[in-house]
Amino acid sequence: ALLPVILCGGSGTRLWPLSRETYPKQFLALGGDGVSMLQDTARRLDGMAAHIPRAAPIVVCNHEHRFLAAQQLREAGIADARLILEPVGRNTAPALTLAALAADPQSVLLAMPADHVMNQPARLHAAAEVAWRLAGEGAMVTFGIVADRPETGYGYIQKAEPVAGGAAFAIRSFAEKPSLELARSYLEGGAHLWNSGLFMVRADQWLKAMAALQPAMLQACQAAVEHSDRDLDFIRPHGESFAACPADSIDYAVMEHLPGNESLGIPARVVPLDAGWSDLGAWDALWDVLPRDQDGNAHTGQTLAVDTHDSLLFSESCLVATVGVDNIVVVQTPDAVLVADKRRTQDVKKIVAELKAQQ
Ligand code: GDD
Ligand code: MG
Repeated sequence: ALLPVILCGGSGTRLWPLSRETYPKQFLALGGDGVSMLQDTARRLDGMAAHIPRAAPIVVCNHEHRFLAAQQLREAGIADARLILEPVGRNTAPALTLAALAADPQSVLLAMPADHVMNQPARLHAAAEVAWRLAGEGAMVTFGIVADRPETGYGYIQKAEPVAGGAAFAIRSFAEKPSLELARSYLEGGAHLWNSGLFMVRADQWLKAMAALQPAMLQACQAAVEHSDRDLDFIRPHGESFAACPADSIDYAVMEHLPGNESLGIPARVVPLDAGWSDLGAWDALWDVLPRDQDGNAHTGQTLAVDTHDSLLFSESCLVATVGVDNIVVVQTPDAVLVADKRRTQDVKKIVAELKAQQ
């Protein structure tokens, strides 16, 4: 069966001051509709079972967010999720490995980041059907988005020959977070897709990839699961064993090494995905997906924009007003206010790093 694995242990530092370590972005309802990104991600699966046999999802998050995650899942009507509670974050490759070790080896994992919006989930379901067949045959399947700017925060997938009757492609190479120069050349070349961050792979094949490419990581995860604390609805990997695990992402640790590595026996595939996907990585991306007024401003909460253009005004608890400014982001929370150039919102993480250094 298909086993959704929702990855929601990131800290979302670029969305400071809204996203905090104690309450990171995946648990926030950024769209103003009261639905958090985790809930939205879990509900994205609704309707998928019609196409593919599906097991109850696994949610991998930090143990500190155990009750927050459980409550949000319940509220979203997902009663059967199992939680894997990481004692510390070791990035996405170990997170997926924990899930693979807890799963039936023949189950097909669908790794789902919890930091995306997707306007047309039905198209994800169609793409997942193609991926399901390929993953069942042993492939590591990615979902590729047509790129429209030289974004350096994403992975880039270079397509090779069509497979599955043209519904998917082999992958020539995978480049995670390239330089701006490379990203520009990929965009011009037209052979690259953005990596959406969703992956589909059979549990046994993922573990095989880890054994070949990241043996130390696999060993640490195995020890952590072996000595874990568990109950019906959660697994808490052993703290010391998991803390000893090297940290890296699925993209760097595995995806970059699969294409062309025939001896592994894990073909890398990409299924194109056009489902209104966007990554809510930073404030400019939120501005992009929110409805905007005639001057191009997006508003959340109590705000007033005079002679202001293409800006994001986000207020939690008091009036936020601007005059005579363009392309800025103002985010008010009760204990911190951010003012930033909208083109520099990737650098908000520098504020968080600075605050950490001062602690
Ligand atoms: N459980 C767990 N543990 N989840 C984690 C951890 C961890 O240590 N670290 C990150 N995550 C979760 C995040 O909460 C997020 O939902 C997802 O995993 C992806 O992690 P990000 O840190 O947001 O990755 P990224 O955005 O830099 O890059 C990935 O996504 C891009 C698309 O949004 C890559 O897959 C890129 O190739 C891709 O283009
Ligand atoms: Mg992300």
